[in-house]
Amino acid sequence: MTDEKQLIAGLIAATNENIDAAMVADALETPPDRKLGDLAFPCFKLARTLRKAPPAIAGDILECLNRQPLPSVIAEIRIVGGYLNFFLDRGAVARTVVDNIDRLGDRYGSSDEGEGRTVLVEFSSPNIAKPFHIGHLVSTALGHSIARIYEFLGYNTVRINHLGDWGTQFGKLITAYKLWGDEATVMADPINELLKLYVRFHTEAEQRPELEDEARANFKALESGDPEITALWKLFVDASLKEFNRMYDLLGVNFDSFAGESFYTDKMPEVVEILREKGLLEESEGAQVVRFDDESMPPCIILKSDGTTIYATRDIAAAIYRKRHYDFYKNIYVVGTPQTLHFKQVFGTLKKMGFDCADDCVHVGFGYVRFPDKAMSTRHGDVVLLEDVLNEAVAKTREIIEQSTTSKDVDNVNSVAETVGIGAVIYTFLKNSRERDIIFTWKDILDFEGESGPYVQYAYARGRSVLAKAEEQGIEYADADPALLTSDEEYALIKLLSGLQDAVRDAAVRYEPSIVTRYVTDLAQQFNKFYNTCAIMKAEDDDIRAARLRLTACTATCIKTALRLIGVNVVEKM
Ligand code: ARG
Repeated sequence: MTDEKQLIAGLIAATNENIDAAMVADALETPPDRKLGDLAFPCFKLARTLRKAPPAIAGDILECLNRQPLPSVIAEIRIVGGYLNFFLDRGAVARTVVDNIDRLGDRYGSSDEGEGRTVLVEFSSPNIAKPFHIGHLVSTALGHSIARIYEFLGYNTVRINHLGDWGTQFGKLITAYKLWGDEATVMADPINELLKLYVRFHTEAEQRPELEDEARANFKALESGDPEITALWKLFVDASLKEFNRMYDLLGVNFDSFAGESFYTDKMPEVVEILREKGLLEESEGAQVVRFDDESMPPCIILKSDGTTIYATRDIAAAIYRKRHYDFYKNIYVVGTPQTLHFKQVFGTLKKMGFDCADDCVHVGFGYVRFPDKAMSTRHGDVVLLEDVLNEAVAKTREIIEQSTTSKDVDNVNSVAETVGIGAVIYTFLKNSRERDIIFTWKDILDFEGESGPYVQYAYARGRSVLAKAEEQGIEYADADPALLTSDEEYALIKLLSGLQDAVRDAAVRYEPSIVTRYVTDLAQQFNKFYNTCAIMKAEDDDIRAARLRLTACTATCIKTALRLIGVNVVEKM
C-alpha cells in the first residue's frame, strides 16, 4: 500500500502543521480485521504534542479532511476509538497497483534509496583445504539474498568471500604434502585428498612430535614468503577454489572479491602499531591482548605468545582496509552465531582504536542446521557435505516430477529438477528467522503442498501456464481494466502485491531474508485461493477474464522478483 500510504500521509499532514507526513506514513497500519478498513492511523502518538485525547485528534483531522473532496481512491473514513480508519476504493487501488507493476516490470518493489551508499556483504567464507560444510551453505544463501535485497534498494553492493586461507594449519598441510602427497592425486579430488593429508598429519604427529616443529617452521616460511612453500600454498588455494566455484555456479552465486585472511598479512603490523601507540595492548600469559571496560567480555587476543597474529587480528585489519578502500555505509558479516563473541571483540577493539566505523559493522548470525533424518548425519560422520545435499535434492525432485501426472509435458526434466531441487534447499534455509535452528528433513523441503520452495515455484508455473493458454488462444489482456477486480479474493491478492516493497525494506533493515520468503509464500497461497475461487479462463465475461489474466501476470512478476531476492529461480513448467 505504499502509494496509498503516501497519499493519506500527505493529506493528514496537510491538516496540521505539527503533523509530519513521514511520521504518519510510518505509523499507518493494517487493521487486524478487514471490516475495520484498509489502513488505520493511530492518533496516540500525537496526544502529547497536540495536548488532546486521541479520539478528539481523530475528530479534528477528519473534519479538516472533509472540508474538500477526497481523492477517489478513499471511499470512506471512520473514527474508531483513537484511530482514523480508511476504507479504500477497491477498483482504484487495483488500478494503481496493476498499472505500477506493468509499468515497472521486474523493477517493481525496488527503490533508489541506497544511491551513493556502499554496502559490503561478506558471506560464505569457507576454509581452504577443508570441506565446505552446511553452515557455509547457509551463510552463502543468506548473504546472497541480503546482497540482492540491498542491491534492489539501490545500494552499491559488494560481495566479499573472506576465505579462510591462512593460519598454522597450512604449516601442517605443507608438511604432510611434502611427506605423503602428490599433485595428480590432490588435483583429482582436492578437498578430500587435502583433508586426508591433514588427518594423517595429526595421527602421525602423535607418534612423531617433531612433525609439529616442522609444521611451525613451514608456516613461518610461508609467512616470510618462501617461494617454494608459497607455491604449494597457492596450489591448495586454487584447487579448493575450483571446487567451491563449482558449488557457487550451481547456486548462481558470485563474488566481487575473494580477499581472504591471507590478503591481510601485510596489513597487520599497522594494527599492532596503532594498538601499541594508544596503549591498548596488555600482556596476558605471554600473549598481547586488548581488554574491555565491560569485564564480562573476555579480552581480544592480538598476538600469540610466539608473536604470530591470529584470526581476530586479521579481522581488525580487514575492517580497516574495507573502510579505506570502499568507504562502506555498512559492513555486514554473515557468519554463524557461535562467532558472536568474536565479532563483539573485533568491533569493540576497532572502536577503542578510534575507528567509529565499528558502529557500521554488523554481525548477521544464524543458527545450526539439524538433521532429524538419521541417514544424513551419519554418512560422513558428523559432517554433512554440501554437494551431497544439493545432489540429493535434485535427484529427489527429479523423481517427484517424473511420477507426477501434471508434469508430463516438462521436456527439460534435468534443468527443472535442478532449479526446483536447489531452490527447495535455499528456501528452507531462508524460511524462518535466521537465528533459529534449521530443521532439515526431505519431507518438508520437497513438500509440494506445504510451505516450501516447490509450492511457490508451482504457483508461479501455474500462473504462467494459464497465461500461455490465453496467448495460444489469442486472448489480449494488456489493456484490461483492473477496476473490475473487486471480489474479496482478488482484492486480498492486490493488497499483497502492493506490499512487496515494504517486505523488501523490512528484510533489509533487519537483515532477514525470511521476511521476503514469508511474503512470497503468502502471495503464492493467496494466488492459489484466487485461482480456485475466481474462474480465469472461464470467467463470466471477456472483460473480467482479461482483468484476471492481467492480475495473474502481475502476480507472476512479483513471485519471480521475490524469489529472485532470496536467490531462487523460477521454471515455466513443472
Ligand atoms: N572461515 C571462517 C569459518 O569457516 C568464517 C569466516 C568469517 N568471517 C570473518 N570475517 N571472520 O569459520
